[in-house]
Amino acid sequence: MTRLTALGKRVLSSGSAQAKMSAIALQRKKRLGERITMVTAYDYPSALHCERAGIDVILVGDSLGMVELGYSTTQPVTLDEMIHHAKAVGRGAQSPLLVGDLPFGTYEVSPAQGLESAYRYVKEAGVDCVKLEGGRMRADTVRKIVDGGVAVMGHVGLTPQHISVLGGFRAQGRTAAKARMILDDALALQDAGAFAIVIECVPAPVAAAITAELEIPTIGIGAGGGTDGQVLVYHDMLGMTTHPHYKQFIPKFCKSFVDCGSLVAEGLEAYKAQVQSGAFPADDHSPYKMSAAELEVFDRMLAERKQGSADVDERRAKIKRRIGEADEYETVGLYGDQGSSQEGSRS
Ligand code: KIV
Repeated sequence: MTRLTALGKRVLSSGSAQAKMSAIALQRKKRLGERITMVTAYDYPSALHCERAGIDVILVGDSLGMVELGYSTTQPVTLDEMIHHAKAVGRGAQSPLLVGDLPFGTYEVSPAQGLESAYRYVKEAGVDCVKLEGGRMRADTVRKIVDGGVAVMGHVGLTPQHISVLGGFRAQGRTAAKARMILDDALALQDAGAFAIVIECVPAPVAAAITAELEIPTIGIGAGGGTDGQVLVYHDMLGMTTHPHYKQFIPKFCKSFVDCGSLVAEGLEAYKAQVQSGAFPADDHSPYKMSAAELEVFDRMLAERKQGSADVDERRAKIKRRIGEADEYETVGLYGDQGSSQEGSRS
């Protein structure tokens, strides 16, 4: 839980006070040579963790489509979905700068479309600013949104929303000419008013050169150590899951700082084994007590109920018969005669 002090600082239940991060404060960090930390978050608990860790910037990334919703790209994600998740993140984290990623198809049609989407994000989810993908071709949109009063973070290099044009999730800027184009993209976004730029999956010297050219901070992901800050996807950096569906999306450049997935798997297996064996719940986890006197009265009630009414047995027998009939029905199978309804019913 947090509360606000008179100085506008958040005091966490841990007792530490954190000032609200702003776009301007990030730019100051660049000038002072202080590295910026940014992590994605998609829900209340991940936001709480980022807040407590003192992360500077939370990105509600459209990567949520892949790591939370199970899509194989970010393209299907809608603005409604992003807003739904961003609201939860905002309830969990107040100190970090909260950036809402504009999803594919919500800003490319025209600058006005981009501004409308940005307004929805700010009004409905309470984000501090928005991020969008693309360089020179998005400069007008960035200008329009900034003029409309919403700060914009740019995103160049690998822009995952454009995989159909890029031919897949691949590194960018690996020739001098292409590296130069990424620099031009970044400069165009800066001129249009972007307050910071994500640089994704480019060779480290390219990202370092762009960082040196720009006045605004750069945040790298798969772009080496020469940027002003770093961003990683929450699930990737925490080794959140060992599931093969998920593992295929962990990029080569990512470092897993812990292996939460193994801990989760261990916990679930232990829970299953203990429920099955009866070891859980033990007395320690049955905290709701009844006084001895009440228990005695209750036992007497049960005994009287048993003795007093002949229909108790009759009613029980009836219910048992009904459950037995339902079991039999299940074994007949719902679709044809393939046996049990559990097996082979949807061929
Ligand atoms: O959606 C996302 O998570 C991102 C980061 C990879 C920067 O855009």
